[in-house]
Amino acid sequence: MAKKDLLSIYDLSAKEIKSLLNAAFELKAKKKNLTVFNGKTLGLIFEKPSTRTMVSFAAAMVQLGGTPILLNAQNLQRKRGESIHDTALVLSKYLNGLMIRAFKHEDVEEFAKYSSVPVINGLTDYEHPCQILADIMTIMEFHKAKTVESLKKVKIVFVGDSNNVANSMLAAAAVLGLDFTLVCPKEYAPEKEILNKALKTAPSTGAEISISSDINDAKDADVIYTDVWTSMGLEAEEKKRKKVFTQYQVNSELLRKASPKCIVLHCLPALRGEEITAEIMDKYEDSIFAQAENRLHAQKAVLLELLR
Ligand code: CP
Ligand code: NVA
Repeated sequence: MAKKDLLSIYDLSAKEIKSLLNAAFELKAKKKNLTVFNGKTLGLIFEKPSTRTMVSFAAAMVQLGGTPILLNAQNLQRKRGESIHDTALVLSKYLNGLMIRAFKHEDVEEFAKYSSVPVINGLTDYEHPCQILADIMTIMEFHKAKTVESLKKVKIVFVGDSNNVANSMLAAAAVLGLDFTLVCPKEYAPEKEILNKALKTAPSTGAEISISSDINDAKDADVIYTDVWTSMGLEAEEKKRKKVFTQYQVNSELLRKASPKCIVLHCLPALRGEEITAEIMDKYEDSIFAQAENRLHAQKAVLLELLR
């Protein structure tokens, strides 16, 4: 059987996402370790910093009976010019799977092309699919939706930068047929290709997707989701971004526009006082930290599916 990678939300059908979510809920409910990965190894390559992705994947592997091998990209021979082709061929000889956090999405695609073991995207400049599986799980929990179908009436609004996280949420909304609004400054709207792919997918799933630069379009939101204004790798733009994004802060004024049962999500790390106020972080800590916890359960489901 051909190996399967998870590089983008579009690598999964709605049926596969639902099945992963069901498995994740089961793993969470059982609260016990399924030690099926005896002797299996997962390599974790990080070109960028990480807290949640690194620790949740490592813990997931251990709890499943396998072994994570943490690889700082700075210490690999790739840093000295070894090609992705050669690195992928070699790592495939030692490992049962490879998770990569990289700058360029194309690099992870190239790893997947030459690797004979499954490759998982642990965040690129373009997408963060593992994050979004945990996010959908969290929305289901907090809005008491037993099925993905019943999520269709939940209005999800992402406020802020059209970054990797927003791109993957947009993709998930398109694939699962969700009601999704992206509120962002005009000059930081999603790339045409990303938006067109979602808009092309939406009619077949019934997804309702809209993009707006008007913060008032967060009106009646059941979920307000945000992320940092300056993603890793864009630090040189920080000053400019802070100015442009000021009116897109998730604060009590914005929450007044939302539905009374609205929850707040943040993929974390958060910069309190920038994209979200400390007050809102604290008020909605239940959903935000459940979201972080759900990374562990969702990724266990992914690992069981891809590495078993
Ligand atoms: N949300 C997320 O991926 O966090 P880390 O950058 O800490 O892994
Ligand atoms: N958009 C953020 C997500 C961090 C998990 C970044 O890429 O830095």
